[in-house]
Amino acid sequence: MTADATSSTYRSTGTSDLHVGSLFGLEGKVAVVTGGSRGIGFMIAAGLVTNGVTTFITARKAEACDAAAAELDALSDTASCVSIPADLSDPDGLASFVSTLREHTDTVDVLVNNAGAAWGAPLGEFPEIGFDKVMNLNVKAPFMLTQELLPELENGATADDPARVVMIGSIDGIRVPVGDNYSYSAAKAGVHMLARHLGAHVVDRHITVNSIAPGPFESKMMEYRLEDDDSRAEVIGHVPRRRIGSAEDIAGTVIFLASRAGAFTTGATIPVDGGISTIRMG
Ligand SMILES: NC(=O)c1ccc[n+]([C@@H]2O[C@H](COP(=O)([O-])OP(=O)(O)OC[C@H]3O[C@@H](n4cnc5c(N)ncnc54)[C@H](OP(=O)(O)O)[C@@H]3O)[C@@H](O)[C@H]2O)c1
Repeated sequence: MTADATSSTYRSTGTSDLHVGSLFGLEGKVAVVTGGSRGIGFMIAAGLVTNGVTTFITARKAEACDAAAAELDALSDTASCVSIPADLSDPDGLASFVSTLREHTDTVDVLVNNAGAAWGAPLGEFPEIGFDKVMNLNVKAPFMLTQELLPELENGATADDPARVVMIGSIDGIRVPVGDNYSYSAAKAGVHMLARHLGAHVVDRHITVNSIAPGPFESKMMEYRLEDDDSRAEVIGHVPRRRIGSAEDIAGTVIFLASRAGAFTTGATIPVDGGISTIRMG
């Protein structure tokens, strides 16, 4: 159907292609997902590989990382998943990850800084190591890895199709957590701000930087809060959407940010938390 030229001044979509395949398609891209061996990182990597993105995952435990990569690799005929085990909280581990990655690719279209750790201890007893460990992995490592991979991010980046960096933060960096995970909430608030700060500095280099703030998702980190029906019900009781997050929720948000649809979004912190940080329950 053709539009009436006299009445459609502000009803044109120009040359835009608004088909879902063009808006959200990722086929042929290359991604890195840290902490991709399990939990949220595995869900994100699964979403990317399923949609044709060759994905490099990393985690410290080599066997688990290799097994996860083999499982993920089987999800696609067109994209592969490669395991590069490394400890990203250690400068030598990070350097070895980057040099091995460079043997495989000179381009990274999507970098998902997901690997993270938590620590809880009562006020008065919180140990220094509980701060250092969490800050090192949750804040310093995403910064150092992003900085290190700038050449690879810039390599395939264009004004129309920028490279994407996604930080996995947490609702605990937005609202005051229930628990005594002091270094974790500080680190997650820090990583949200880091994404905004980095985003401002690389916007002219055609790189977007956003963070996602998940609510509760099934993972080893959350095992202690979801281990039995009562504790699971308590967690769900604090979620306005009355469930925990799923692979669709988190992978879908990363797919949006990595796709044409997300190309104009940068410096944002997107809560994926069933309304915990946005809806007051009373
Ligand atoms: N699950 C939730 O409800 C939730 C909510 C909000 C935010 N988050 C955030 O989501 C991210 C993923 O959490 P998750 O719940 O999926 O945790 P998880 O199940 O504990 O998974 C953490 C992943 O990171 C890897 N990792 C840990 N330390 C590492 C290191 N030093 N170097 C490289 N990789 C390392 C782990 O593998 P190895 O142990 O083998 O190293 C694993 O693959 C974290 O940033 C977390 O803070 C989670």
